[in-house]
Amino acid sequence: MELADKVAVVTAGGSGIGRATSLRFAEEGAAVAVVDIDGEAAAGTVAAIEAAGGSGSAHAVDCSDSTALKDLFEALDQRYGRLDVLFNHAGIPNPHGIAAIEDADFDRAVGVNLRSGFFATRYALPLFRRTGEGGTIVFTASTAGIVASMTSPLYAMTKHGVVGLVHSLSQVLAEEGIRVNAVCPGPVRTPMLPGFMGKGPEETDWVAEHYGSDNALKRVAQPEEVAEAVLFLAGERSSYITGVPLPVDAGFLAK
Ligand SMILES: NC(=O)c1ccc[n+]([C@@H]2O[C@H](COP(=O)([O-])OP(=O)(O)OC[C@H]3O[C@@H](n4cnc5c(N)ncnc54)[C@H](O)[C@@H]3O)[C@@H](O)[C@H]2O)c1
Repeated sequence: MELADKVAVVTAGGSGIGRATSLRFAEEGAAVAVVDIDGEAAAGTVAAIEAAGGSGSAHAVDCSDSTALKDLFEALDQRYGRLDVLFNHAGIPNPHGIAAIEDADFDRAVGVNLRSGFFATRYALPLFRRTGEGGTIVFTASTAGIVASMTSPLYAMTKHGVVGLVHSLSQVLAEEGIRVNAVCPGPVRTPMLPGFMGKGPEETDWVAEHYGSDNALKRVAQPEEVAEAVLFLAGERSSYITGVPLPVDAGFLAK
């Protein structure tokens, strides 16, 4: 098992990619702290982990709130006393264009997409240091962290920021044995998908077809396919990889 006896934290673990990754981490032996603004969703993921024979805990936290993150990691320190893997996954689609963006939109985008991962990392570091064994941090950026978003400059700005943070943290944390990477997913079939085009859940199939036509494999991803890439970056198989924004995008960026 790749994560036997490890402790992992997954933010936005109540749904989609975060849920699939939490389950995969647990399958590989990690105790998983599932964090989500929706406490019931987090509890649902933990119930699924436990039903499969794993262990974890659910935490209702708005990851854009740095004070709440400080409290969270203090509680996790009490509970687990160590941390080996942090998956900074929380993020939201942002409104399109620039003319109609209000201060509140901007602040929410920065709060959920950038502040969350920065402060989760800050407050997680003392837990990583408990064992002296280092660890791994994986962020969720996006293809829009590497190239333009055709719809939301605000989203692309935040996701480029995530990649900048990953580049920098990989340098700063290397001497402590902490590797830092990102996954850059293309479109993934989760409840969030239609939101990237400003559509509702009833238009998920149409949105999936639209995005799927834009990559080499001609389909959107399933959340489990991204979870597999996160597991790779979280575990020892990627021991010589740090500072990398890894596209998980069916060839979209290769065009
Ligand atoms: N789905 C895609 O097509 C896609 C593509 C590229 C990147 N991403 C990125 O993946 C991440 C989430 O995507 P998903 O597809 O797994 O979504 P999802 O809709 O399946 O799940 C999102 C989860 O985030 C939680 N959440 C929302 N705001 C939060 C907050 N402030 N604090 C804590 N939890 C919060 C929700 O309650 C929900 O459980 C985001 O960072 C997003 O930018 C998604």
